Amino acid sequence: MLTLLRSGFSHVPPREVLQGTDFKKILKTFEALTDLGPELTADHDFRQTARTMLTAIMEAAGAREAALFSFDERRSLLTSVDAQGFALMPDPSVIPLLPRHQHTLTAASGPIVLNSSTHDVFLSSNGNVAPELFKCLCPLKVRGKLTGAIALGRRAGDALYEEDALDALKMLSHYIALAIQNHTLGQTLAQRVSENLRLVASLHGFYDNALEAFTTAIDVKHVNIHGHSLRVGRYSQAIGEAMGMNPNDAASLRSAAYLHDIGMVAVDRRLFEKPSELDQNEYREMRDHTVVGHQIVSQVQFPWPQIPEIVRWHHERADGSGYPDGLHGDEIPQAVRIVALAETFDAMTSERAYRDRLSVGAALQELIRLAPQKYDPEVLHALLIQVRRDAIGTNRLPLLDPTMMNLSAVDVDQLASNLQQRVKQSNSSTP
Ligand SMILES: [Fe+2]
Repeated sequence: MLTLLRSGFSHVPPREVLQGTDFKKILKTFEALTDLGPELTADHDFRQTARTMLTAIMEAAGAREAALFSFDERRSLLTSVDAQGFALMPDPSVIPLLPRHQHTLTAASGPIVLNSSTHDVFLSSNGNVAPELFKCLCPLKVRGKLTGAIALGRRAGDALYEEDALDALKMLSHYIALAIQNHTLGQTLAQRVSENLRLVASLHGFYDNALEAFTTAIDVKHVNIHGHSLRVGRYSQAIGEAMGMNPNDAASLRSAAYLHDIGMVAVDRRLFEKPSELDQNEYREMRDHTVVGHQIVSQVQFPWPQIPEIVRWHHERADGSGYPDGLHGDEIPQAVRIVALAETFDAMTSERAYRDRLSVGAALQELIRLAPQKYDPEVLHALLIQVRRDAIGTNRLPLLDPTMMNLSAVDVDQLASNLQQRVKQSNSSTP
């Protein structure tokens, strides 16, 4: 600060030749600078900082009217961030600059006193404020680039801006320019982040729509599996949320779960219609949908990382009885355990050619019986949480088709207690 002050005051004549009024003005400028320092580094709202800066400028330059502008290079536009003293000044005031205005303002080495013949050299009259209001203009620059401008209106008694006022203005303008640039950079950054987020959101929307259409095509083989993959996606997302996943991860899990049965496209349609149990060859073909699906998705760079493992392993079971790789317990990633349970729950509660569908309560009871040997009890507990929310009507969108729901909150609590018992039993019987 001291160095800056020294350089700022380097043009000041020796003290003995200063007149009383000059000395007072220099003191005023010094005062303005000392006020501005803490203000510029404080965590204030920018409008408040702008007001303090403009007040300091007006005091130092003896102006009754003043406005502070920031410059948007992309739109070539000066926009007021604060104005004081003008009777008629729109908020914000905007002044579009033509290339020649931008050039002359950038080339100016300090404040310029404006008159009727120079207004048009520096400012255009295309904005919502008349340049004639301004008697003095000081471009704000950082490293030779225009960041804004200070415009002064009338002084007390309509006096002209003299050299001492211009000197004070020039000295202050360096600090103001930096403050404006910091603010503009912050705003640009915030704007870019929000634009990127919007873009990502629209991409997600696009992917979701495309994926839902594609998912419907996976389940087209037979009427009994229509909607299966979409429901598994929805159940997986709900389970993920009930397990504390953040909304983005849960949405990503839904997208991945949509594709879990993609390998079914290679399975003979006849197998879905068969009213009896599949023979050995048919069963092998059916279970190969995991490996075929994995081959398909491994060729593609999806924006959801868990897709290959979900496609390959969603028929793996904790006790190693699943396929295709016979994984055990924690070898099966959590996202896969969620989709595995969601898929079984949907299969149990849907009609099949060889059996009737189970009610929601019966399906949950059967899953409890199979936990923890086949299914992860924490995942099942999360599904119970969501079913209970359906029962008491607190889910924004119901998880289950209302025609399926046959449980009260008390029933679900009973199922949760059964699950707890089941896990306890299993822990005590494990050596
Ligand atoms: Fe499957």
